[in-house]
Amino acid sequence: MSDKQIRIFDTTLRDGEQAPGCSMTLSEKLRVAKALSELRVDVIEAGFPAASPGDFESVKAIADRNFGPIICGLARCNPGDIQKVYEAVKGADRHRIHVFVATSAIHREHKLKMAKEEIIKSAVGAIEMARELVDDVEFSPEDASRTELAYLAEVVSAAIEAGATTVNIPDTVGYTVPAEFDRLFRYLKEHVANIDNIILSVHCHNDLGMAVANSLAAVNAGARQIECTINGIGERAGNCSLEEAVMAIKTRAEFFGLETGIDTTRLYPTSRLVSNITGMHTPRNKAVVGENAFAHEAGIHQHGMLQHASTYEIMRPEDVGLSRSNLVMGKHSGRHAFRDRVAELGFELDEFETNRAFQEFKKLADKKKDVYDGDIEAIIMNADSASSGPWTLKSLEVQTHTDQPATAAVTLIGEDGEDKTESARGDGPVAAAFLALEQATGVQLTLKNFELHSASIGEDAQGEVTVTVEYDGESYRGRGASVDIVEAGCRACLEVMNRILRRKQYGSSGPGRPTPEQATI
Ligand code: KIV
Ligand code: ZN
Repeated sequence: MSDKQIRIFDTTLRDGEQAPGCSMTLSEKLRVAKALSELRVDVIEAGFPAASPGDFESVKAIADRNFGPIICGLARCNPGDIQKVYEAVKGADRHRIHVFVATSAIHREHKLKMAKEEIIKSAVGAIEMARELVDDVEFSPEDASRTELAYLAEVVSAAIEAGATTVNIPDTVGYTVPAEFDRLFRYLKEHVANIDNIILSVHCHNDLGMAVANSLAAVNAGARQIECTINGIGERAGNCSLEEAVMAIKTRAEFFGLETGIDTTRLYPTSRLVSNITGMHTPRNKAVVGENAFAHEAGIHQHGMLQHASTYEIMRPEDVGLSRSNLVMGKHSGRHAFRDRVAELGFELDEFETNRAFQEFKKLADKKKDVYDGDIEAIIMNADSASSGPWTLKSLEVQTHTDQPATAAVTLIGEDGEDKTESARGDGPVAAAFLALEQATGVQLTLKNFELHSASIGEDAQGEVTVTVEYDGESYRGRGASVDIVEAGCRACLEVMNRILRRKQYGSSGPGRPTPEQATI
C-alpha cells in the first residue's frame, strides 16, 4: 500500500453496535458486513467475542463468510479474551486481533488500579500472545488523548517492540481538539523508535462534535488508518463518521494528498441500510448522507445551481450514491422501472424478493399518488422484517373516540393458514391494537419507546415506526411501515413478537440472534 493510502477500519459492528438502541441481530450484522465489504472498507471490526456468546457467534459467522476485508475482533489484555478473538476470526483469510488497555492516569487510578509499569507489562504480554496466534495485531492505549505524552510514547514503543503491527490512538471520551491531536501525533512520530514500521491509527469519539475533525488532524500528522462507523453511530455522541471522513479526504484531495479505497457510490445505500436496521435515523441536515445534503432551497442558490452545480455543491450527489432526482413513481410505473429504481437505491433483490416488493409497491401506489424513494425503502425493509412469521397481519380495525377508550380488532394469519381475531380496548388506538396483538400471539411485551418517522413527503407519506420493547428482561427493537401509522406500529410490534416466538421455537443465543444456520443475507 502506498504511503498516501488511508485504511478505513469500520467499527460499526463493535463500537457502533455497543451504543444504546443500536444492537443488531446476527442476520442484520451479516447484511451490514456484506455492505461494508461492497463499500470496500479495509478492516471490519466485527465485535468483541468475549462480551457474550452471541458476540462470539456473530464475529465467527462474519469471519467464516470471508467477505474480503480483514476481519478483526476486540480483546482485553487477557489470555481468555485473546483466545476467543482468535477462535472467532480465524475463519477469515485475513484476520486481526485488536487488544486494548487504558493508559491515562484517570483510568489507571480509578478503573484499573494499576501502576504504569503493570499496564505496559500487561499490554506487552497480550501483544506477544496475540502475535503467536496471528501476524496482524493491533494495540490501543485506551484514553490515549488524556495520557501523559511521555508515558504514551513509552507504551507505544513497548507495543511496537512486542510485535504490534498497528497502533491505534483513541480519543476515547471525545476530549481532544484538532490542533492538540496534531501535536500528539507529531510527538509520537518524533519520540517513538520504529513508529514508521507500523500503521499508526486514529479512533475518535464525538462528545464535543469533533470526531471527524480530530481524525483528519491525525491523518494530516501521519496516521494512516481511520477507525469510524457508518452514520457515526457509537457510544454516547458516537464515533467518527465514515462517510464524512472519506468524503473530506476525497473532496479536499489537493489539501490532504491522500486517498482511501472506498467505493463512495456505496456510501448512501450503506448509510440507509444501517439507519434502517438500527432505527437510528440520520438527521435531514447530516453531512454527506442527510436528505438535505444536496437540497437547495434559497432562490439565489437554485439560480446558481442552474448556471453551474459547482456554485453551491462541493460534491456530486452521484459520487455518494444518491441519484440527483428523487424520482417519483406511481401506479403506472412498471416492473422494470421499479426494479431499476430499487437497484439505484442500492438494494440487491432476487427474483422472489423483487416480485414481493413490487406487489407491495402496487398496493401502496393505489393508496397514495406519488411513491418516493423513502417509500420504496420502507416497502423493502418492511417485507424483509415481516417475511419470517409465524404470524402475518391480515387486517386491523381501530375506532377512536374523543374522551373514551379506543378499540381495536386485529386478524392474524398463522403458519397453519388459519385466521385468529382478537379485539381489545386501550387508552388510545396504539395501546388497543398492541393489546389485541398480545392476546392473539400470547406474547406480552412492555413498550419502552415508540418512534414515528415519515418515510417520504406529503400528508399521505408512509409512517415508519420503530418500537423498543422489553420481554423477559431483554430489550428488542422492531420496525414497520404503512400509510396508516397505527398499522405501522402493529407491524413493528408483530415483528418483535414473531422474533420472540421463533426464538422460543428454535432457540438462540441472544435477543433476536438466530443461530448462524438460521441467519440469511
Ligand atoms: O474508544 C476507545 O477507546 C475504544 C478502544 C477499545 C479502541 O473503543
Ligand atoms: Zn471507541
